[in-house]
Amino acid sequence: MSALSLRGITKSFSGNAILKGVSLDVESGEFIALVGPSGCGKSTLLRILAGLDHADQGEIVIGGEDMSAIAAADRNIAMVFQSYALYPHLTAGQNIAVPLAMRRLSGTQRLPFVGSFVPGQRTTRAAIARDVKEMAKSLKIDHLLDRKPGQMSGGQRQRVALARAMVRQPSVFLMDEPLSNLDANLRVHARGEIVELHRRAGVPTVYVTHDQAEALSMADRVAVMIGGNLLQLASPQVIYDDPAHIEVARFVGQPRINVVPALAENGLVSFGGIRLGLQAYIAGRADVSLAIRPEFVRLANAPQDGLAAHVERIEFLGSEVILYCKLDAIGEIMIAKLTPAEASGISAGMPVTLSLSPGKAMVFAEDGNRLQASPLTVDATLERAHG
Ligand SMILES: Nc1ncnc2c1ncn2[C@@H]1O[C@H](COP(=O)(O)OP(=O)(O)OP(=O)(O)O)[C@@H](O)[C@H]1O
Ligand SMILES: [Mg+2]
Repeated sequence: MSALSLRGITKSFSGNAILKGVSLDVESGEFIALVGPSGCGKSTLLRILAGLDHADQGEIVIGGEDMSAIAAADRNIAMVFQSYALYPHLTAGQNIAVPLAMRRLSGTQRLPFVGSFVPGQRTTRAAIARDVKEMAKSLKIDHLLDRKPGQMSGGQRQRVALARAMVRQPSVFLMDEPLSNLDANLRVHARGEIVELHRRAGVPTVYVTHDQAEALSMADRVAVMIGGNLLQLASPQVIYDDPAHIEVARFVGQPRINVVPALAENGLVSFGGIRLGLQAYIAGRADVSLAIRPEFVRLANAPQDGLAAHVERIEFLGSEVILYCKLDAIGEIMIAKLTPAEASGISAGMPVTLSLSPGKAMVFAEDGNRLQASPLTVDATLERAHG
């Protein structure tokens, strides 16, 4: 049984279909990154999961229990939003303690002053303080526990909000861009902390981000949602190496994947009249897209070994060099990611020959779905040429 299961969730806002039948299973202890461009419905899906909004259709099952009749407060879900809502009159420590106090203390035990005379209150309060301290330590905010939100930076407030959500053991964690207000360095650091906390607590997590690098680096599996559909749910490596849809291929990878219009004729792929040594499994004559990641585009020595192009722009990034080249045959840009050694002596405006590893090229049909493709063997090329 999955820890969390979504079946055919649909949602429209004033006639606009935002979620078009999303199904997703999260296994126990799993960390799922939900990614997709702005406006694709990520937050809407999380809000529905948390019970803050209702789906038009579909089913949500958490720990084997159907959630449709269960109110948000009773779902035992912890959620961190992009806009962290801390109580401004409480200190960081008190903010973090709120969810624990709500669960562990009775109504009378929580009363100011009077509560301290109710049996058991002091012991429970002490245990809560210990848990808060420990949580704060692991997020490196233990020195801030006595400050109020107004006395902290945006990044510090966000970590307090994160600590408040993570201090108890919910059945599911939902995080909606929880690191978006942090600067780049702190963000990378906080990613590591969240992954570490997740590993220790083992609570199934759905983590929304539109940062593909964050998704690939943190998640067990990545769910790519585009236009209200979940296009692929797979490990980061499969999402990167073996995308099922052209939009998935485009969404991950930096610099982004090269996509050029191509033609498949009886399975042979070409563009601008140039055969590519690649066979796609599609009948007849069809417009397709050829996609190849920049790391599989190399410079060839001899013109007959590749595609003629001109260098438009060079970006030096330290350990790598990004070459933006315009293909002479079709005028499209092809990006190559090279080592500084490979790129030495290359300058803007220069003619170059690009070779694409046929084994690494991908072919997508007009509807965006991946087509099976494989490098042509020499025999097959000849056979086709004569047949
Ligand atoms: N309450 C609402 N009423 C009407 N439209 C809404 C409502 N909530 C969201 N939408 C619309 O639904 C679409 C999806 O919104 P959502 O907030 O889920 O996107 P998102 O994927 O989280 O985007 P982002 O990455 O920018 O946060 C958007 O077009 C948004 O304008
Ligand atoms: Mg959102």
